[in-house]
Amino acid sequence: MDQAKELRNLINNVQNTNLKNTLNSRVITISSGKGGVGKSSFSVNLAIYLASLKKRVLIIDADFGLANIEVLLGIRPKYNFYHMLKGEKNISEIVVDTNYGIKFISGGNGLKELSNVNSTEIKYFIEQFEYLDKIADIIIVDTGAGISPNVTNFLMASDENIIVTTPEPTSFTDAYTLIKIIKEQNRAIDKLNIVINKADDKYEADRIFTKISHVCNKFLGINIKNLGYIPSDIALIKAIKQQKPAILSFPNSDFAMAIKSIGNRLINEEQVIDNSGIKNFMQKLMSVFNK
Ligand SMILES: Nc1ncnc2c1ncn2[C@@H]1O[C@H](COP(=O)(O)OP(=O)(O)OP(=O)(O)O)[C@@H](O)[C@H]1O
Ligand SMILES: [Mg+2]
Repeated sequence: MDQAKELRNLINNVQNTNLKNTLNSRVITISSGKGGVGKSSFSVNLAIYLASLKKRVLIIDADFGLANIEVLLGIRPKYNFYHMLKGEKNISEIVVDTNYGIKFISGGNGLKELSNVNSTEIKYFIEQFEYLDKIADIIIVDTGAGISPNVTNFLMASDENIIVTTPEPTSFTDAYTLIKIIKEQNRAIDKLNIVINKADDKYEADRIFTKISHVCNKFLGINIKNLGYIPSDIALIKAIKQQKPAILSFPNSDFAMAIKSIGNRLINEEQVIDNSGIKNFMQKLMSVFNK
């Protein structure tokens, strides 16, 4: 048996004790085709809003580039996935509390190593995630932008996806390309939602959604859902200057209102969601990274 196949078997055989259990975390992956469309701002503010509704929320920064979320949350974790993957820390030691009622894990360099692990590391790594299913109701995974495996693998592993785009043609075309690439790999993509950020108004956002939805349906046979839009709002720029997330520093801004309405929509869906949890997510992720 070749090594890759052996690893795949091992990944699939890590005992899955919590599949389809209502106590699993709800894992929502945030991604985009083009960079700089507002994923991290959306992830952080949405997480804080969901926490205000008494949900236990954790953000995972799975961006391989800049530590966006850390800047937005004003934290600098000492340890990240890398330390866990190497067995130096266990998962509870890499979870960081923030001042905003949400928890955080930095991917750091660890996520780059996911396709570079040996069988002992894989087993340890996947099993560690059971802990997160116990401490979080909702896990938001903020990924990088683009169509590299670093992004597409996360989308394929996730039960629930939100792709963020702006109304700019380069942004929504790249969002479509991202969806198309996954389709071309013959991979299923579950629950695909779109959020249109930095829109002028609802009409512009609806027009862009209709465009993306039409091509996804016609050329890929995929139905996507409109989760809502977020206007361009100066509150976000002011919030960065105040070093406090906009949902807290400007709770009545158009931006905050939009985040709340998207958050409420997600919560309203809760009864119909069948969460397979973060451990299952990691299992699928390791499996696509090592295919
Ligand atoms: N609705 C909005 N109104 C005004 N500015 C916004 C809005 N959303 C995001 N921004 C600004 O756009 C910039 C990019 O946002 P952010 O870093 O969240 O994007 P990103 O998609 O995470 O980027 P990357 O691809 O680099 O990870 C930031 O300066 C942010 O403040
Ligand atoms: Mg980001």
